[in-house]
Amino acid sequence: MKGQSGTHKHLNGGENSANNLQNALANFSLRAIILCAAAVALGNWMGCTFWGGWNSCRILDHMTASEDAKTTNRSAVDAFLTGPWSMIKPSRELVYTPCFDGFNCTRLDVPMDWNSTDPDGHRVSLAIAKLPAKVPVTDPRYGGLLWLQTGGPGSSGVNFVLNHGKTVQMIVDSKIDPSIPHYDPSDLPKYYDVLGMDPRGINNTTPRISCFPDMLSRYAWNLQSRAEGIIGTSESSLDNLWARANTLGERCSKMAGSSEKPEAKIAFHMNTAPFIRDIVEIIEQHGKWRQKEAERTLAGLKEYSTHIQGQKAADVTTRTKWRKGEEQLLYWGLSYGTVVGATFAAMQPHRIARAVIDGVADTPDYYRGEWLKNLQDTDAVLGRFWEYCDKAGPELCALYTAGGQGEIKQRFQRIFTSLQGNPIGVVGDGSIAPDLITYSDLLWTIRQAVYVPLQYWPMLAALLVDIESRNGTSFALLKQQELQISVPPDQCGEAPPYTPYCAIPPNKDLGETRTAILCSDRNTTYDLDRSAFAAYVAKLTDQNWILGPSVAQVRLSCVRWNLSPKWRFPGPFVGETAHPMMIVGTARDPITPIRNAYAFARRFPGSSVSAIDGEGHTVLTAPSLCMARHIRTYFQTGLLPTNGTICEASEKAFLGITKPGEIDEQELLEQLRWSARNFFA
Ligand SMILES: *[C@@H]1O[C@H](CO)[C@@H](O)[C@H](O)[C@H]1NC(C)=O
Ligand SMILES: *[C@@H]1O[C@H](CO)[C@@H](O)[C@H](O)[C@H]1NC(C)=O
Ligand SMILES: *[C@@H]1O[C@H](CO)[C@@H](O)[C@H](O)[C@H]1NC(C)=O
Ligand SMILES: *[C@@H]1O[C@H](CO)[C@@H](O)[C@H](O)[C@H]1NC(C)=O
Ligand SMILES: *[C@@H]1O[C@H](CO)[C@@H](O)[C@H](O)[C@H]1NC(C)=O
Ligand SMILES: *[C@@H]1O[C@H](CO)[C@@H](O)[C@H](O)[C@H]1NC(C)=O
Ligand SMILES: *[C@@H]1O[C@H](CO)[C@@H](O)[C@H](O)[C@H]1NC(C)=O
Repeated sequence: MKGQSGTHKHLNGGENSANNLQNALANFSLRAIILCAAAVALGNWMGCTFWGGWNSCRILDHMTASEDAKTTNRSAVDAFLTGPWSMIKPSRELVYTPCFDGFNCTRLDVPMDWNSTDPDGHRVSLAIAKLPAKVPVTDPRYGGLLWLQTGGPGSSGVNFVLNHGKTVQMIVDSKIDPSIPHYDPSDLPKYYDVLGMDPRGINNTTPRISCFPDMLSRYAWNLQSRAEGIIGTSESSLDNLWARANTLGERCSKMAGSSEKPEAKIAFHMNTAPFIRDIVEIIEQHGKWRQKEAERTLAGLKEYSTHIQGQKAADVTTRTKWRKGEEQLLYWGLSYGTVVGATFAAMQPHRIARAVIDGVADTPDYYRGEWLKNLQDTDAVLGRFWEYCDKAGPELCALYTAGGQGEIKQRFQRIFTSLQGNPIGVVGDGSIAPDLITYSDLLWTIRQAVYVPLQYWPMLAALLVDIESRNGTSFALLKQQELQISVPPDQCGEAPPYTPYCAIPPNKDLGETRTAILCSDRNTTYDLDRSAFAAYVAKLTDQNWILGPSVAQVRLSCVRWNLSPKWRFPGPFVGETAHPMMIVGTARDPITPIRNAYAFARRFPGSSVSAIDGEGHTVLTAPSLCMARHIRTYFQTGLLPTNGTICEASEKAFLGITKPGEIDEQELLEQLRWSARNFFA
């Protein structure tokens, strides 16, 4: 569920020189993490680049696009593409080009409507980024293509693989150095490609969905939505958010239904069923690519050579041959990616070769559009915040209070209450803009914090202490960094201090993307009226007072979404998969409680559940060498850990590395720790 990231690049070649405060906070990566679900409702913070103020906003992408137009003749729907994407011509096979320093990119051209027989029908270009395997496909140790599926719904799979592909590859690959020859065919180490794709309507995949005329208007809408405050934080928030959801839902539905923009029809084809068909297409195309790639290599050999790397050429040909219609899936799906995994496994059970299902959203609950099975463990996560803070002491936790965790909890709640109806005005300085810190802002931040404890908890403790003394400066900095707007470098002056708007490159996210997917997926017509919705908010708030109201806003975003997708898979979401699946999570996940994992396993016989005894959303937020090894074994050998296996966390928020004396894979641990501090799904 949800999230997005901003890369924090500073001017001056990455030197963290924005200002003293920024230096003070530099240990904390201040990434925007927005809970997939909540982001839907409030609208996302998408980046618009402001060139000299609101009136003259232009979108950086256009600059790049017009330059590229000289080399390629691209259609209007492609005009905003940046980076390597603007140079890649969509094709009907996987034709890779090098991109993003170590990756391979391609744009695969597929029908918008998989059920249409019209050869001139609308098309979609799927943006794909692949971290190539450490060995070529002709090598017997080549393991295949691992599909890495992030959450949202609607998050960029390209962005995710660019950030976390290396971590995932390090986990699933054999730890044997691939440059060491190893030809015992009975015990081959395996090395994998890791692929991420932007789903239909999203980011670098075209056409993009947009219910706004331009990015500035979307940005303004989202900013105002956030200013209304989360439901329940002000007298008017529910009234206004209700009206906003109705208005935007009606706009999106009208746009897709009219002929004003032909590409807006994508809204009818963004639900999970056609997405599964896209995955099938890509794994089939991968089979074709693998065969061609091997043929190309073999053709390059000397005529008389019948062996390559110790194998008979004929064996290479057999092994790499495209098994048309039978190519299998290797998968790791997080959060909403678990819904994608369940849907794939129900639709194509014979294709599952490996599947790690991580941070389980309850599939039936998701398809009912109810969001009632998310908050069962959120209180337990908060409980650990107080407990670990108490254990860690004042050096490591700024909120530490003598007298035990009960005292810390009470202080936490006092600080919270102190903001109610009593926002802090931040005057700002040369690099921090004047701002207001509200009760709703704090709710948002705590919501982010429970998702990714290692990244946020020490910072959150410090922010709370500042708020206690009515000092909102550090909070304003965090807030401004997350807004994801930026001014062009030439307006940022020659020397520091720079404002956060100078430090963060634009990161475009389209709020409607999530809505388009999850509202089309739900199989019930929404009949909630205002009073029924208010009762629903009360129910979720009762489940958890911090996350409840914002999760309710997910359902709210669908209230006027009147689009029926062209093709939907009705379920049931059960099946006998070709190979059993590995269901994982943390024991305390604030948005996908571990009980969902057991429920998932019951629907897919043979699958087994294992959990990390830690906190956070998905196993990538809680470094655990034990879990990493289980996942590696599963990919290397197919063996699953015993159902109910509990792994120790190698690091915990506030407390640090749990057993420093027992770390045997230092490099892997460092990589896991990096991902746990830079996570978004
Ligand atoms: C470029 O696009 C225009 C407008 O779609 C079209 O008329 C023209 O033939 C295209 N040129 C090339 C070289 O494809
Ligand atoms: C794929 O990426 C690797 C690593 O950057 C690069 O060496 C190779 O040329 C790329 N291949 C293609 C076809 O893009
Ligand atoms: C659409 O195509 C898929 C296969 O691509 C098929 O399973 C499904 O039944 C089709 N749906 C309709 C409505 O024809
Ligand atoms: C919606 O999907 C859920 C989960 O698969 C199922 O239990 C329910 O019966 C479905 N409802 C309708 C109206 O199809
Ligand atoms: C407010 O907090 C910031 C960051 O923690 C600190 O640098 C600053 O000195 C504080 N201001 C006052 C008036 O205490
Ligand atoms: C879209 O993809 C680009 C890489 O092409 C990435 O840098 C950017 O962060 C992505 N945007 C979002 C909103 O994820
Ligand atoms: C796995 O363990 C859970 C909880 O202990 C149990 O409910 C479930 O039936 C087990 N599943 C299998 C396949 O053994």
